[in-house]
Amino acid sequence: MTIEYFRDYETLSLRAAEILALEISEKPDGVFGFATGSTPLRLYELLVERYQRKEITFSRLTTVNLDEYIGLPPDHEQCYANFMHRHLFGHVDVRPGSIHFPEPGNPAKFDKMIQDKGGLDLQILGLGANGHIGFNEPGSEFDSRTRVVELAPSTMQDNARFFHHTEELPHRAVTMGMQTILEAHKILLLASGKGKAPAVAHCLEGPVNLNFPGSCLQIHRHVTVLLDESAASKLKSSRP
Ligand code: F6R
Repeated sequence: MTIEYFRDYETLSLRAAEILALEISEKPDGVFGFATGSTPLRLYELLVERYQRKEITFSRLTTVNLDEYIGLPPDHEQCYANFMHRHLFGHVDVRPGSIHFPEPGNPAKFDKMIQDKGGLDLQILGLGANGHIGFNEPGSEFDSRTRVVELAPSTMQDNARFFHHTEELPHRAVTMGMQTILEAHKILLLASGKGKAPAVAHCLEGPVNLNFPGSCLQIHRHVTVLLDESAASKLKSSRP
């Protein structure tokens, strides 16, 4: 695991965009996994800028997303397909037929599609304050596949900030499984802000266990973690 430290969210996002641009240039027909939530928003703006400057193209990429809420209308701003369209896909040259989200009616199809395409070249992850990755909540099995899950009460609380009315907030989602994530050839985990500091410390320095799903990243062969100062503030190990 490689951990890189940044003074703030902006410098972290610039580095994330640099890594993504390099990976996409090296594998222009690759399978790239995207995350939603607040953490990758600046990264996506920077990728759009790089696309506009003709530094990268998404024209041959296959994209997959980590997760999708169940029960939101497709035009809801927190429907993750809509979110990705507004923040990234709608501004670049990705082919609509190459964009994939897990579907609650047939989650196994998602894993098969990824396998048939030779696996995920790179998966971007954010980290839940409770240590979740995707919507694999604490207690998720490390060998889980893409499936329908109940959101943890703490996740619903954290994500309520994205909804105008809390009663709209779904309590179920379909998520890429832990095993599916761990099979990605490369993983890029981003964490920013002091709210993430306890989860970062548990997942990067604590034992690998089901209470902190992100801790399983310790056993992956190619993980890069980008942390800003606040997210790294509870780590015990010394850092620059
Ligand atoms: C999003 C996802 C989640 C988020 C996590 C952090 O697709 O799968 O695991 O990455 O909840 O969310 P933010 O970035 O909003 O703090």
